[in-house]
Amino acid sequence: MRSYIIAGNWKMNKTVAESIALAEEIVAKTKGISKTEVVIAPTYLAAAKVADVIKGSNVKLAVQDIHWKDQGAYTGKVSVDMVKEIGAEYVIIGHSEQRQYFHETDETVNLKAKKVLGAGLKPIICIGETLEERNGGKLESVLTAQVEGAYKDISGEDALKTVIAYEPVWAIGTGVVATDEQAQEAQRYVRSLVAKLYGESTAEALRIQYGGSMNPGNAAGLLAQKDIDGGLIGGASLKADSFFSIIDAAEKR
Ligand code: 13P
Repeated sequence: MRSYIIAGNWKMNKTVAESIALAEEIVAKTKGISKTEVVIAPTYLAAAKVADVIKGSNVKLAVQDIHWKDQGAYTGKVSVDMVKEIGAEYVIIGHSEQRQYFHETDETVNLKAKKVLGAGLKPIICIGETLEERNGGKLESVLTAQVEGAYKDISGEDALKTVIAYEPVWAIGTGVVATDEQAQEAQRYVRSLVAKLYGESTAEALRIQYGGSMNPGNAAGLLAQKDIDGGLIGGASLKADSFFSIIDAAEKR
């Protein structure tokens, strides 16, 4: 049985002080959560402080990206050792905003995934199609290229430590959520791709989150779908109440 994983991607929101305050609220609210994995991804700047706040709680730390190099002259970048040192467990990679604005490709996603796994951390690998691709009948070919690209030369054992976040680009930050059926259909397909690469048992165990305008009003319906194992939440993760409502919807299933 796959457990739910609800992750808040704070993106470029919240100052350090605001991040600490939000993390404190989430820690307090999630004291009784036992079945659902709760993850928050503040900015790098706030991550070490947030790590202190969530120590010993039910909340785990993610960061929003890393560079695949160990160290060196890469201005503005952060290495996996740096985020490991502060206690991050997950690293979000391949987010559509990285792909769209910062030249992330399936190849760099793969390099980052291997680096994260090599350090003993867990990548949350984001994939998803644009509206143009969906309308042009390219949904399956886009998802296939993204999954095959991300998992190139990654063993089945390592693949099990990863999480996939299916985030249709047209649903991110738009308030236009995929219907339960659209999300389920795409995620069923993603699971079939994992099965092709690693076999049925790995595909059945690997968790696939949905992301894109998920909120307290639509979370229960999405989480009820067979192939949806959680959420990667942007806007609705920026307030403790709405983030907790989504966690609670997962916990009650
Ligand atoms: P929103 O929930 O704001 O649509 O963002 C989703 C997302 O991109 C999470 O990574």
